[in-house]
Amino acid sequence: MAGKINVGTFRRMKERGEKIVMLTAYDAPTAALAAAAGVEILLVGDSMSNTILGYENTLPLTLEQSLHHCAAVRRGAPEAFIVGDMPFMSYEVSVEQGLANAARYLKEAGCNAVKIESSPGSVPLIERMVDCGIPVMGHIGLMPHRVMVSGGYKITGRSEEDAAKLVETARALEKAGIFSLVLEGMPTATGAQVSAALKIPTIGIGAGVECDGQVQVVTDLLGLIDGFLPKHAKRYVELHKVIGEAFSQYVADVKNSDFPGPENSFS
Ligand code: KIV
Repeated sequence: MAGKINVGTFRRMKERGEKIVMLTAYDAPTAALAAAAGVEILLVGDSMSNTILGYENTLPLTLEQSLHHCAAVRRGAPEAFIVGDMPFMSYEVSVEQGLANAARYLKEAGCNAVKIESSPGSVPLIERMVDCGIPVMGHIGLMPHRVMVSGGYKITGRSEEDAAKLVETARALEKAGIFSLVLEGMPTATGAQVSAALKIPTIGIGAGVECDGQVQVVTDLLGLIDGFLPKHAKRYVELHKVIGEAFSQYVADVKNSDFPGPENSFS
């Protein structure tokens, strides 16, 4: 089914009032499971930097690391619509740099589109990418790349003035040619206001139920990491417990000579 999905699909879904489901994926088996479950967009998020590569935030992730994981996701979900999330400083230096790096997501990693954290300053890059045939997903609101400047992960668009600025930016990005827009960390009313102002779909994460779709970070959803869970995230399973118990059982089995059993041994 997903092989038939293209950028036009999402706009039509918005027109029909059909919610879009996006989930991050960083590896082949998880991508296969998410696609089989009906997730419509797999985002190879730069959140992989902290969620699976062990860095403190998204800043250290390199372009090569991101491409490596995008290609794995493509191998796991050959028909899926896959968005590669461009790492910090892989597109901000110049339009030429951003364009050349974005092209690698389509040419080398098999992605369908790229995502960039966006501002009005991103318009020339987006126009050039779209003109060259690279579909772009924007991202506004709370932007993890700017954590050093903002001094933390802060909710945006709380005042009327800030909400109006987000609407203005969203409209400029839509005009530049993005096919969808991630809204992160803003009140439900602001998410609704931005979504209503656009023809392209919005995909929310901590931006309320009025967005045209939702995205979650897969490790949050699966409860893979014990500890802090952001308010916007919902844990559907406590995988850290399941995995921890399996590992403990394995350790006990080896220590007690219960593994390998006859069924795991060769004669
Ligand atoms: O990297 C990521 O996972 C993201 C989502 C939070 C939208 O950008």
